[in-house]
Amino acid sequence: MEYVHTGAWAKKAIKEAKLYGDVKIIASSEDQKFTYIPKNVVFSQNVAFAHITGNETIGGIEWQEWPKVPSEVPLVCDMSSNFMDKVIDVKKFVSSMPVHRKILVLQGHGGYRPRGSY
Ligand SMILES: Cc1ncc(COP(=O)(O)O)c(C=O)c1O
Repeated sequence: MEYVHTGAWAKKAIKEAKLYGDVKIIASSEDQKFTYIPKNVVFSQNVAFAHITGNETIGGIEWQEWPKVPSEVPLVCDMSSNFMDKVIDVKKFVSSMPVHRKILVLQGHGGYRPRGSY
């Protein structure tokens, strides 16, 4: 599993992933306190998956352009805070699951809580 470390949410994802296997951080913006998204990220061939955090809401940085991954490597993105943010070409990702769990509350219209997977 290869991760790009971009801040607080990526850190949580990395910590959890380490419970399941080898995690390699292939790019990080820790050197500048997570104030930027690393450029020219190169994921390896033959890794189980590549992971990014679409929008690091705590640090305030966001991917503007999705990284390229080798064709056989699945790209997983924590899109928790990309929900309804912009048009996203989801075909690029194998999983953006956190989006499914978000609670959507429309102002003045009560609430709608998505359930199940879709
Ligand atoms: C990037 C990212 N990941 C995960 C979360 C946690 O989301 P949830 O509260 O739906 O578990 C957030 C919350 O804002 C987030 O911004």
